[in-house]
Amino acid sequence: MNAEAVYPPSAGFSRRAHVGDLEQYRDLYRRAEENPEQFWGELAQSELFWFEPFSSVLEWHPPNVKWFTGGKTNLAYNCLDRHLNTPRAAKTAILWEGEPGDQRAVSYQELHRLVSRFANVLKARGLKAGDRAIIYMPMVPEAAVAMLACARLGVTHSVVFGGFSSEALKARIEDLGARVVITADGGWRRGKPVALKTAVDEAIQSLDVADVIVLRRTGGAVRMKPGRDHWWHDLEADAGDVCPAEPLDSEHPLFVLYTSGTTGKPKGILHTTAGYALHTTLTMKWVFDLREEDVYWCTADVGWVTGHSYVVYGPLSAGATTLMYEGAPDYPGFDRWWSIVERHRVSILYTSPTAIRALLRQGDQWPDSHDLASLRLLGSVGEPINPAAWEWYHRTIGKGRCPIVDTWWQTETGAILISPLPGATPAKPGSATLPLPGVIPAVVDFHGKPVPRGEKGFLVIQRPWPGMLRTILNDPARYESQYWQRIPGAYFTGDAARQDEDGYFWILGRVDDAINVSGHRLSTMEVESALVRHPLVAEAAVVGKPDEITGQAVCAFVTLKNVDRDHRDLGAELRQWVTHEIGAFARPAEVRFADALPKTRSGKIMRRLLREIVTSHSVTGDVTTLEDMAVVSRLAAQHDDEA
Ligand code: WTA
Repeated sequence: MNAEAVYPPSAGFSRRAHVGDLEQYRDLYRRAEENPEQFWGELAQSELFWFEPFSSVLEWHPPNVKWFTGGKTNLAYNCLDRHLNTPRAAKTAILWEGEPGDQRAVSYQELHRLVSRFANVLKARGLKAGDRAIIYMPMVPEAAVAMLACARLGVTHSVVFGGFSSEALKARIEDLGARVVITADGGWRRGKPVALKTAVDEAIQSLDVADVIVLRRTGGAVRMKPGRDHWWHDLEADAGDVCPAEPLDSEHPLFVLYTSGTTGKPKGILHTTAGYALHTTLTMKWVFDLREEDVYWCTADVGWVTGHSYVVYGPLSAGATTLMYEGAPDYPGFDRWWSIVERHRVSILYTSPTAIRALLRQGDQWPDSHDLASLRLLGSVGEPINPAAWEWYHRTIGKGRCPIVDTWWQTETGAILISPLPGATPAKPGSATLPLPGVIPAVVDFHGKPVPRGEKGFLVIQRPWPGMLRTILNDPARYESQYWQRIPGAYFTGDAARQDEDGYFWILGRVDDAINVSGHRLSTMEVESALVRHPLVAEAAVVGKPDEITGQAVCAFVTLKNVDRDHRDLGAELRQWVTHEIGAFARPAEVRFADALPKTRSGKIMRRLLREIVTSHSVTGDVTTLEDMAVVSRLAAQHDDEA
């Protein structure tokens, strides 16, 4: 029955792996399932440094969870200090390459010093445990320094991806209630400086932000407001090298990361200290099979959860050399990444299917002109990987030698939940395979009842896990309704999935109104809200349109207030508008104008029909509740006119 290709791990890989065969994995899984508290409790003791031991492993009062209560720890301490009295002190912690070609190798010792100094800078600005800071930075080592300095003091950070516009930044600063914004003049992208400080200036015009700390990166002109704005290097010059890590409660809020929900308003996902630390550290071993000599490269930006967990916190806590690259994958040529792999001897590469497809399309000559022999493990995250891209990644990049870990997780889950263990789990291209020990997923129907193997249903997680979100900042009711009340007795992921006869999970995409563009989760409502803020737009409906490279692309249907307006150039204007309101990554690939949008009698926009229009250019199925059938046929006929 098994039509899919199956790739068992090679004997050579398995021999040296942390988890070396399926039996060992099943054994770990069984132990975790039978006695989760003992399982997690032992790991928390062996994997993390504690200032004070915890007294209980798990307090679970759905939907509220506490892990390792009574314990005191600090994630920055786990990422830095604990490595210092070991041979890792001199090891490169962050290996960095700027887009213009500048390079730095920052050792654990040096990173400890930089973080301590910057923590002292924050202290001198009056920041202490419980305060909140926004980080809006390019991909430079100082982004990690800022995060770790916050974690060292117990300042809760929220990193905002540098691609977000000033409008989106403003909403996040307000919701977080941040007193401080840490930023840079800009960063390099495709040979040009991208301004960040000017976006901060715009965002905080009407906000009460006490301090803006600005790193000099591009040398571009910036306006500095006296008293509020400070150069990073000026403040740092007066800071001391010693700043002990604050012993923090296990449940101390570590960071908030905003992600798209099903409404127009992004949700501030809150993660806390110890459980997140344990989960990210462990998955570096289980999933990435980290070894001392690895050069590990996760290509995500620190503004996304993948950057938090697998560029900064996980790798550093596990003592890895983590590579950071500032710029675009195709600059100056389509082989920039392969050149980085070759020159820095990267052994583990973790990236998104979109990036793989985009590079695949450029042809094999780009990777083939580089020596990729240092690679031993490849990873994929953010969206389902289609088998063709999987095969190319495996063959052309991994030379058939490297296992691929297709890792399923979410901003909310904190770290990887479903993934092959590369020495143990036979891979099937397109499947995230099996859950990690301690993770109990299921595919269920609306009532929480498991659907038969092979059938599609909702992916839920049936037990709490250490890295899980604790709440939505400022909105605990939404936390409960969104994640814990949809499906009885389980965490609702928002994804559809199917489990095959081997128990493998196949993720089929979102079931809510989120769409996945280049591995970035976007809410259709968020883009719609942005569009209707435009003075000429009456109504907007956004759906995902299948795209060969980015998985899905944003397609917007718009009705105008003044129907006589010539809308020929309005498409471009509205795309630019969304860039301004959210950021370039949310820009619609296509804007279509309509006289009306198809609605049910109760007035709800029928997105399903619009999805069918962009997917198949025709409409099938039940349209009997449609308000106006003519609307649909006009929209279907119009396809591509405005592209
Ligand atoms: C999707 C990114 C298929 C999924 C870490 C999930 C995936 C959403 C995979 C979370 C995968 C993530 N296979 N789909 N390996 N990984 N997804 O919060 O729909 O940006 O719910 O976290 O991405 O996106 P987020």
